[in-house]
Amino acid sequence: MKISVVGCGYLGAVHAACMAELGHEVIGVDVDERKIAALQAGTAPFYEPGLPELLARVSATGRLTFSTDMAAAAGADAHFICVGTPQTHGEFRADLTYVDAATRQLAPFLRPGDVVAGKSTVPVGTAERLAATLEATGATVVWNPEFLREGFAVHDTLHPDRLVYGLPTDEDGVTTPAGEKAKAVLDEVYAAPLAAGTPLVVTDRATAQLVKVAANSFLATKISFINAMAELCEATGADVTRLADAIGFDPRIGRKFLNAGLGFGGGCLPKDIRAFMARAGELGVSDALGFLQEIDAINMRRRVRMVDLAREVCHGSIVGRRVAVLGAAFKPDSDDVRDSPALSVAAQMQLQGAHVTVTDPQAIANARAAWPDLRFAETALEAARGADVVLLATEWPEYRELDPDRLGAVVAAKAMLDGRNVLDPARWRSAGWTYRALGRP
Ligand code: UDX
Repeated sequence: MKISVVGCGYLGAVHAACMAELGHEVIGVDVDERKIAALQAGTAPFYEPGLPELLARVSATGRLTFSTDMAAAAGADAHFICVGTPQTHGEFRADLTYVDAATRQLAPFLRPGDVVAGKSTVPVGTAERLAATLEATGATVVWNPEFLREGFAVHDTLHPDRLVYGLPTDEDGVTTPAGEKAKAVLDEVYAAPLAAGTPLVVTDRATAQLVKVAANSFLATKISFINAMAELCEATGADVTRLADAIGFDPRIGRKFLNAGLGFGGGCLPKDIRAFMARAGELGVSDALGFLQEIDAINMRRRVRMVDLAREVCHGSIVGRRVAVLGAAFKPDSDDVRDSPALSVAAQMQLQGAHVTVTDPQAIANARAAWPDLRFAETALEAARGADVVLLATEWPEYRELDPDRLGAVVAAKAMLDGRNVLDPARWRSAGWTYRALGRP
């Protein structure tokens, strides 16, 4: 099948490469010339495990091409909208500039019966609005949300845990004939994962748009729930990691996404819960999502608490103190620093007078672009040299496996703040370190 993918960022580049891997003929389009040049050369414009190998493999087949010219999308049977929907500056709602621009630019190249499948995370109602915009083209707008996690994006796209199709429906809620035809096109696109038994949820467009934000809101809630428990643990001397283990054995609760620490960041969870609240307000049901305000607040409080913890181990003041921050990416296996808790805490400490050196295996370039005033080091040992306190802020495997004695030999004071609750407190304490963590005695 001939497919176009509009927007080649973390979502679109992976989607395009994976669709080519599934055997389709794919054209990826993006306005960013640098990104397209890299992809055309078969290299990934960002760090994502497995993507460079996949790009090399599918580029060699000739099934995957890239262009900055939207005209290249002409003739594709399915067009996937994968552009970003960031938070609007100074507001909670999603900025739909890129979605609207992509749709407008795609319109002249659409043929009747073409499928326009939205993958971007959008406020519910956007699909219906785009469908009205594109009505004259005869194309069918469907919503097909994407649930990929950065760091596992290739796996999640090739082996999704579910597929969701949001199809146009009539006033009785029945899928329209055009919707049925679009479903057949999507079935062909996803023939391989469907044959492998991937569950498929076919629904209306509104539900499909809500699925994505509901899923991300639930995940954010789970993380903030355990971080709220961490606050309780701090007040009582309890251990949140053991608490999470114990409640996680209940299969109704589950242990996944119950890791307390610096909380969630990245390009999705924070802006998605805010956009969801903004949309609920527009729909007159803001009370329904009032709790998300608290989820956001709990999340942000963890960052403040971590700065306080640094102050405590520095005997009351971080002014002039040297702090090593291990990790800049919002999570391991990514170079993404958007709303990164690690960088946010690093920057706060720097602004409060500490001398902060940040290291990260992949994200230094992005971190430096975002916070040029911070100092950067290539390795953990280099960052920690002469440090009064070390903060593990992103749980990269190499930081989890750090040797307390080797690190202890280069620091000025053996103070470890475990922002992700991944180190063994007994091991670090027996090596002479002061070990402090969020939600742990
Ligand atoms: C998320 C969703 O998981 C994915 O399904 C959706 O498509 C996009 O948004 P992603 O942003 O890649 O994916 O990251 P995710 O793995 O969900 O982690 C989000 C944040 O939560 C990270 O900052 C991570 O460190 C934090 N987190 C995660 C915790 O603090 N504790 C946990 O237990 C899990």
